[in-house]
Amino acid sequence: NTRIWHANTKEWEREALNEAAAVLRDGGTVAFPTETVYGLGADARDDAAVARIFEAKGRPSDNPLIVHIANLEQLDELVLPYGEAAQRLMARFWPGPLTIVLPVKPGAVSQRVTAGLDTLAVRMPDHPVALQLIESSGCPIAGPSANRSGRPSPTRAEHVKDDLDGRIDGIVDGGPAGVGLESTVVEIDGDAVRILRPGGITAGALREITGRVIHDVEAVPDEATGAAVRAGTIEAPRSPGMKYTHYAPKGLMQLVIGDAGDVTAYIKEQAAAARSRGERAGILAFAEHGACYEGDDTVIVGSLSQLETAAQGLYAALRTFDERGAQYIWAEGCPQEGIGHALMNRLVKAAGHRIVRV
Ligand code: TXA
Ligand code: MG
Repeated sequence: NTRIWHANTKEWEREALNEAAAVLRDGGTVAFPTETVYGLGADARDDAAVARIFEAKGRPSDNPLIVHIANLEQLDELVLPYGEAAQRLMARFWPGPLTIVLPVKPGAVSQRVTAGLDTLAVRMPDHPVALQLIESSGCPIAGPSANRSGRPSPTRAEHVKDDLDGRIDGIVDGGPAGVGLESTVVEIDGDAVRILRPGGITAGALREITGRVIHDVEAVPDEATGAAVRAGTIEAPRSPGMKYTHYAPKGLMQLVIGDAGDVTAYIKEQAAAARSRGERAGILAFAEHGACYEGDDTVIVGSLSQLETAAQGLYAALRTFDERGAQYIWAEGCPQEGIGHALMNRLVKAAGHRIVRV
């Protein structure tokens, strides 16, 4: 059975987290809050414990895990000596939503964590509960997002419960996650930083402290220059997880991009057509256009003028469509600036790369 610990208030925190930490030390699996999404943790050095993560999630074994640490002393045990570029990234962005891929120290973690690669993805989460849990367990904590594989990542403890109840040992409920999208994953290439997965730390923020930032892909390629397939294929070899269909709601989703007036008109028309066929249609819209869809089954994901709110709300919105039994979902796109880049990356994936330009 899956235990639930509440870590919302200070009085509860210490005792609850000590119990949860003990479960981790004993080779158990515990979901915990981070500033991005909830993670499913286990001792990264314990082969059987890590196997339980893959089992609980139904995750393909060739998709490696991120290891979470609470301090830099832990890092030295996990990876080989790293250069100045990595040090600068850590100094500026840790704790925070940045995952850095570094050469792994042989034998430091279970082979299952790295899926046989000679690199390890590491991050120090910026969340007091996560940091205290890791610290008190004394383990480096392997932690993928705490969802069943293929489902939207969990941004609340209830999402974890919906997906993994009975499949894991415990859940630490620390309230809603902050950023709402997963961390930015980067690797270091000479003096450049290559973004393998866009996320909470934007390209602009990275550019402030490194010479060059390389984008493997735009989420939605430029119409003039890029074939649409780029969005699906280029990242795959470097960050194994990017090749899987991720974040998908159960309904068939399409991402609609173009001028706002054209987008809302197209979506309204499509939703009406679906309804007249007797199908359940859902619309994922920005607050600014909410009024255009009166009478439709609309979920407002956030505001275009503050894309951070949309990032926070995206995964919960996708889960809402599942609860309502939406068979078709039309989603509005957003500008690929700042966090909008990561947001579009996830929207494109949720839509299974079905992009309609109007
Ligand atoms: O915000 C996050 O990163 C959350 C929270 C829980 O920390 N975790 C998360 O983990 O999103 P997961 O397993 O859902 O995604 C890990 C991503 C995958 O795309 C995986 O392929 C990539 O990181 N990855 C892991 N190890 C890697 C490596 N050695 N080289 C390249 N990519 C790697
Ligand atoms: Mg995930």
